[in-house]
Amino acid sequence: MSTNSDKRVALITGITGQDGSYLAEFLLEKGYEVHGIIRRASSFNTARIQHLYEDPKCHRPGKMKLHYGDMTDSSSLIKVITAVQPTEIYNLAAQSHVMVSFEVSEYTAEVDAVGTVRLLDAIRTCGLEKSVKFYHASTSELYGRTSEVPQNERTPFYPRSPYGINYYSFYISLKQDFKHDIILLLIACAKLYSFWIVVNYREAYNMFACNGILFNHESPRRGETFVTRKVTRSIAKIQLGLQDFLELGNLDAKRDWGHAKDYVEAMWLMLQQEIPDDYVIATGESHSVREFVETAFQYVGRTIEWKGEGVKEIGQDAETGQLLVKINSKYFRPTEVDVLLGDASKAKEKFGWKPTTTFQDLVKDMMDADLALMKRDPTA
Ligand code: NAP
Ligand code: GDD
Repeated sequence: MSTNSDKRVALITGITGQDGSYLAEFLLEKGYEVHGIIRRASSFNTARIQHLYEDPKCHRPGKMKLHYGDMTDSSSLIKVITAVQPTEIYNLAAQSHVMVSFEVSEYTAEVDAVGTVRLLDAIRTCGLEKSVKFYHASTSELYGRTSEVPQNERTPFYPRSPYGINYYSFYISLKQDFKHDIILLLIACAKLYSFWIVVNYREAYNMFACNGILFNHESPRRGETFVTRKVTRSIAKIQLGLQDFLELGNLDAKRDWGHAKDYVEAMWLMLQQEIPDDYVIATGESHSVREFVETAFQYVGRTIEWKGEGVKEIGQDAETGQLLVKINSKYFRPTEVDVLLGDASKAKEKFGWKPTTTFQDLVKDMMDADLALMKRDPTA
């Protein structure tokens, strides 16, 4: 017989995003009652979780329910938590695009920093701080300009994107000599704030609160403007004659890219431990944007030959000479994170997590999905 204490009720903020959709699937399969917070939009924003409602063949043990709310609105968070009485909360909601954070820095801080403390306080207001387990979506972006490679839980943070107050315009007006030193003082990093507020609430109120320091993870559900998805969508279009070439920014940035499906399992595992803690989740392999482009073109049988330098660099089809990749300086960032490479040995040791998808398999999965998508709907 199931008792109240056996009840497994998850609340996911950001359920409509890439990770939220995989996590909802994962928890439903485990028999959880899953609740998600969605924000009001003028067009449908539930495409990634639509199948969880619609597929009649999916006899999942758990159930899903959506609630309107917003990370900028404390009262909505309190109302949802009061109604749902969750046993686990996964805070995935964020303005998650680094380049966009330079344009909408104040809003990014509002959602990604203050939003986290709003949610933590909402848990306390509802009197659930002793019972609820809390996961926060922290990020390898915090390592930014570190010189330590690979990065683990002990590597100092050195954030490189505003994710906060718009000091950027002031920063660019400074003389070059001052820029490097002053950037640390000026750039308030929303995700850095969130990381520390989670640690603080764990220590101050004895809450079961964890930071997952996740390195980049991708999938066919990745947002269309992140570099991997932009590449796989564009190549699918080029192959079908719907696009001529692809425009990119910095080809030499390196990322530790894993598959989102593997990473949501790690989120859940963190909350099943006896003691709350912070964990790096990564593959331990790093590839450049250039390598991602080459591998994805290789998958459709084309070899890229690079010519020129800097903004004049181009990628051509080695056989036909067709122009396939161009550099557009509008995709360069004011400050860049050059190399991310994670060391997830703590997660492996504590709860046996390791990635199951290789870099080649990730590219294949995304290419297959985008080739099928563009054939089905060339206007996608
Ligand atoms: P994503 O696809 O961009 O999803 C973000 C989610 O947050 C969406 O559901 C979005 O809703 C929601 N959201 C945005 N602003 C909101 C607001 N004001 N109130 C309520 N919900 C809001 O991001 P993701 O790739 O799934 O990543 C999930 C989390 O992990 C994010 O916090 C991200 O910063 C972090 N992270 C991601 C990676 C990665 O490589 N994917 C790595 C490290 C950390 P809409 O659908 O309505 O836009
Ligand atoms: N988006 C994009 N578009 N990036 C490009 C492009 C382009 O046309 N050309 C080159 N890049 C480079 C970026 O400069 C960056 O170095 C790299 O590709 C990866 O960019 P994104 O895919 O946008 O991801 P990100 O690493 O900036 O951020 C993602 O990972 C973080 C974890 O490290 C996001 O998911 C963040 O939310 C997450 O925190």
